[in-house]
Amino acid sequence: MDNKLLIASHNSGKVEEFRRMLELDSIELLSLRDLGITFEAVECGKTFQENSEIKAKVYGNLSGLVTLADDSGLSVDSLNGDPGVRSARYGGDGLSDEDRVQLLLKNMREIPSSERNARFIAVLTLFIPNDKKSNNKLISIAGTCDGIIADKPVGSNGFGYDPIFYVPSLGKTTAQISSLEKDSISHRGKALKKMRIEVQKLYNKNND
Ligand code: IMP
Repeated sequence: MDNKLLIASHNSGKVEEFRRMLELDSIELLSLRDLGITFEAVECGKTFQENSEIKAKVYGNLSGLVTLADDSGLSVDSLNGDPGVRSARYGGDGLSDEDRVQLLLKNMREIPSSERNARFIAVLTLFIPNDKKSNNKLISIAGTCDGIIADKPVGSNGFGYDPIFYVPSLGKTTAQISSLEKDSISHRGKALKKMRIEVQKLYNKNND
């Protein structure tokens, strides 16, 4: 196995986030763009886990490389887990991040502050095509970040639902903190920290 790892995302911000957090000097991290892959995997799963596995397998089989994929989103208790796996598509196509934030606030306007609990969830999946022992191997790791949906957007950092995701222990929304600070508390940051260990184990074992 060569020392290459494919980050299965078309989102250049996410690829950079993965590079920053994985910090793996001896492994060459490649993006879909680096490989010229424009194909979009169909995220038809009902859970973050299913979608994360779909993306890891589709791009791992296309490239033949060890592949790391993720699926993430926002789950609001009082909305029975919505927007959930549809976070990026909430309200339909053609809406901006700001439009989706406004739609969520509108759908929650009757909900009192004591019932606005929510969490960001990320599931990362590492797919090892042609793993000698198990043929094709999948390793999935989840991370969560708890918060409360604010009444109005605050802050301009981050993306998606960050301006309305208030973290009580920080006294701020995730749009008011730096990307480094967010890495240390975020759903993706927590999952990536654990996944980094799995990736290191895999490449160390294969280089023995
Ligand atoms: P994915 O790229 O299919 O995983 O979609 C993730 C969607 O969930 C994004 O488009 C955002 O709407 C939302 N989301 C996931 N993580 C975050 C985050 O850290 N901050 C804000 N929104 C997020």
